[in-house]
Order: sequence, then C-alpha cells, then structure tokens
Amino acid sequence: MNKLRNIKSIVELITDDMLLVNEVILNQLKSDISLVNQIGYYIISNGGKRIRPIIVVLVGKSLGHFCCKHTQAAALIEFIHTASLLHDDVVDDSNMRRGKHAANMVFGNAASVLVGDFIYTRSFQMMIDLDSMFILKLISEAANVIAGGEILQLMNCNKINLSEEEYMQIIYSKTARLFEVAAHSSAVLSNASVEQEKALQNYGRYIGTAFQLIDDVLDYDYDNMNLDKDFGKDLDDGKLTLPLLHAMKHGNKKESILIREAIKKGNSRHLLKIIFAIMKHYGSLEYTYLRAQEEIQKAVDSLEIIDDSIYKEALVNLAYIVTQGYN
Ligand code: IPE
Ligand code: IPE
Ligand code: MG
Ligand code: MG
Repeated sequence: MNKLRNIKSIVELITDDMLLVNEVILNQLKSDISLVNQIGYYIISNGGKRIRPIIVVLVGKSLGHFCCKHTQAAALIEFIHTASLLHDDVVDDSNMRRGKHAANMVFGNAASVLVGDFIYTRSFQMMIDLDSMFILKLISEAANVIAGGEILQLMNCNKINLSEEEYMQIIYSKTARLFEVAAHSSAVLSNASVEQEKALQNYGRYIGTAFQLIDDVLDYDYDNMNLDKDFGKDLDDGKLTLPLLHAMKHGNKKESILIREAIKKGNSRHLLKIIFAIMKHYGSLEYTYLRAQEEIQKAVDSLEIIDDSIYKEALVNLAYIVTQGYN
C-alpha cells in the first residue's frame, strides 16, 4: 500500500506504458487544421490525471495479457474524456480547467465545441483500428450514454425536484460509464473470462461513481478547495448534486427554502458560504463522502476474483486514492 499511495507512484509502476499512451495521444491529435493542434495541444499539455488510461493499462497488466491494442484503447478513451471536458466547460460556462484558463475562455465556445467534435470523431477512427466489432459496440454505446447523461443533466438544471435515484442515474451516465467501459474493454482485449470481464466492468462502474460523488463534494468543500478548476460551479449552474439534496432534505424550513431558491434562480455563488455552513451542520459532505466510500468498497470487492499481482494492488489503491481527493 505504501509504495502505491498516490497517483504518481501508480504511474511510476507503468511509466513505459503511459509514455506509449502519451505518444499515441500526441500522434493522433496531429491535424492539418491549425486550430485543432492549438486547442488539442493546449488541453492535453495542461495535464490531467489520466485516470481512465491508467485503469486500461492496469487491467490489462493484472490479467497478464497486454499489447498495443490496450495502449490504443487507453488513448482513445482519454480522447472521449477530453472531448467531453471541452464540451462540458462550454455547457457549464467554466473558467478554469487543469489549473489554467478553460479552453472556452481562451479560444471561445465555438472553437471548443468544434475541436471537441474533432477529438470525439478521432476516437471513433481509433476504435476502428482495434479491429473488433465487440469493442466498437461497447465503447460507442458508452459514448452515447455519456452524451445522454450530459443532456439529462442539462434538462434538470434549476429543477428542485430531482430524486437521489435520478441523480445517481445522471452521474452513472456522464461519468461512471466511461470508467466502466475503460475497465471492461481492457478486460475484453486481454481475453478475460466472462466472470473477470463482469468483475472489472463493475470495478469501473463503482470507482467512476465514487469519483463523481467526490467531485461533487469538492465543488462545495471550502476546507479542501481545488483551485485547478472552478469552485462552487454546481450551485451557480443550478445543478442539484447529492450534497445539496442532502442539505435540502435535512435542513429546517428556512434553510430548505434558501437552497431551493438558489437552485431555481442559479447564479447563486453569493450563497455558497451559507450553504456550506448548512452542509457542515447536517453532515451533507460527510454523507456524500460515505456514499463514495461504499462504492469504493464495492469496487475493491469486485477485484476478488482477479489473481494477486502488483497491478491488482495498484487497482485497489487507485480506488482508495479516488476518495482521498486525488492526492
Ligand atoms: C473531470 O475528470 C470530470 C469529472 C468526471 C469529474 P478528471 O478529474 O479525471 O479530469 P482530468 O483529466 O484529471 O483533468
Ligand atoms: C463531469 O461533470 C462532466 C463530464 C463527464 C465531462 P462536472 O461538470 O461536475 O465536471 P467538472 O466539475 O466540470 O470537472
Ligand atoms: Mg463541469
Ligand atoms: Mg464538478
């Protein structure tokens, strides 16, 4: 556990493979169209944790079958993620991404949307290169569910009657599904047994769900402010996430009304401090954090049928790292 206690140490375990993934990413980003190179390079060179490619690589290695197809799958899954970030930052009107100005702030909304489309469609060309109808089906279905998740979220902005089930459905679609398909497709490329495939698919789904739950905590958490991206954006955007749902449910009448109005009206950043205090009082961030931990436990339990190895250990630790706020 000690030697794999953060993402950096996990990447060190698979450095050569991650360098290859990076090479594929940079090669596939190249285009004759200068704006594609400019924005693509801008967002990619600003970093990102590369958690989804790490999962693809670790799953392949833990199953003992790893080849260049895994590298290609890892890169194309990062492309789907990158494209969805470009689009998401336009939709959410974000200012910051990966510690820098978001691409929409630097290049404008239209350029971000169009280059996002370019990167999305490039990921499909890369899928074809994997030469597997089954993988194509898996990842294209996931890409469609992710797009649907963002639409569902948009439809629910400024709505106060979202249920916890609907919220869980949104975060599964927009975030967990890509983690799920990262682990699943890697297992398929490694010729895993049906049981292993299912176990790894579940691992991805659980870790991805926990990941978004923690992201939704961090968006309100003044005590652990992440300034690499916008803070307090969910409230401004009128997004009802689990911490807010919890605070609304447990707060007294006055507090509940304040939250409802904030969501209905949007642009309620000025209420962030008060709402954070309400969340602190009722344990709303802890509640969400505990829900994430439950998911992480399920992710770790799913790995039981995989043979022990340093790579499996890394998958286990990656799951715990997700709830530690990415350090
Ligand atoms: C951000 O994902 C979007 C969410 C699903 C919360 P990441 O936190 O993985 O983004 P990068 O790639 O590391 O910047
Ligand atoms: C995740 O939701 C969006 C994607 C899956 C692209 P968020 O809107 O919460 O992600 P951040 O907070 O902007 O990274
Ligand atoms: Mg966003
Ligand atoms: Mg967020």
